[in-house]
Amino acid sequence: MPSTANEIVIEQVRSVAGLTDGLGALLADAVEGGASVGFVAPFPVREAAAWWQSIATDIETGSVILIVAREADRIVGTVQLRLAPLPNARHRAEVAKLLVHRDVRRRGIARMLLAAIERIARREGRTLLVLDTISGSEADHLYRTLGWTAVGSVPNYAAMPDGALAATTYFYRDLSG
Ligand SMILES: CC(C)(COP(=O)(O)OP(=O)(O)OC[C@H]1O[C@@H](n2cnc3c(N)ncnc32)[C@H](O)[C@@H]1OP(=O)(O)O)[C@@H](O)C(=O)NCCC(=O)NCCS
Repeated sequence: MPSTANEIVIEQVRSVAGLTDGLGALLADAVEGGASVGFVAPFPVREAAAWWQSIATDIETGSVILIVAREADRIVGTVQLRLAPLPNARHRAEVAKLLVHRDVRRRGIARMLLAAIERIARREGRTLLVLDTISGSEADHLYRTLGWTAVGSVPNYAAMPDGALAATTYFYRDLSG
């Protein structure tokens, strides 16, 4: 059941059919804005859309759970939960590709997306969540604000969109309590 707050609708989608352009625009916007989310600049929308298409099967089979935030018909945010597949990790999942369009930041959309992903993680029996994000980034502040535990940083872990290497901090969140 989608949940709403103001005009933002948060919902799980089980296919990216018809959504790759909107998701691609969101991902390209994050890279253009200087976020290190897997890609370097220049990163055109069509390449970003192709990346979403490349994970379509994972979303359809349920190994990746995809959440989107919509404002009217436009996708303005997303996050995904990647379920650890191995038998010793069925309680664990990784939170990835949390993106909110620059136009609509600081309105609590990331907070809503993460609340939704936690509800789904619990439903799936995934009680340990992990992620990594650029140290000192907006997302780093967000996860600390929301009570995630930082466990340490790796220097020079990922390239920023301009190619400069930056440290990443690993976080976890225990939902078992
Ligand atoms: C990180 C990101 C998802 C936050 O989205 P958002 O919708 O603006 O975040 P919210 O409005 O829900 O913020 C919730 C809280 O997080 C913290 N926060 C969010 N953005 C912040 C910023 N730029 N600086 C400091 N704290 C910030 C604040 O405590 C905020 O609460 P407040 O606004 O009441 O002070 C967004 O900036 C983004 O898409 N960045 C680029 C992509 C990225 O780095 N993704 C993370 C990959 S792991």
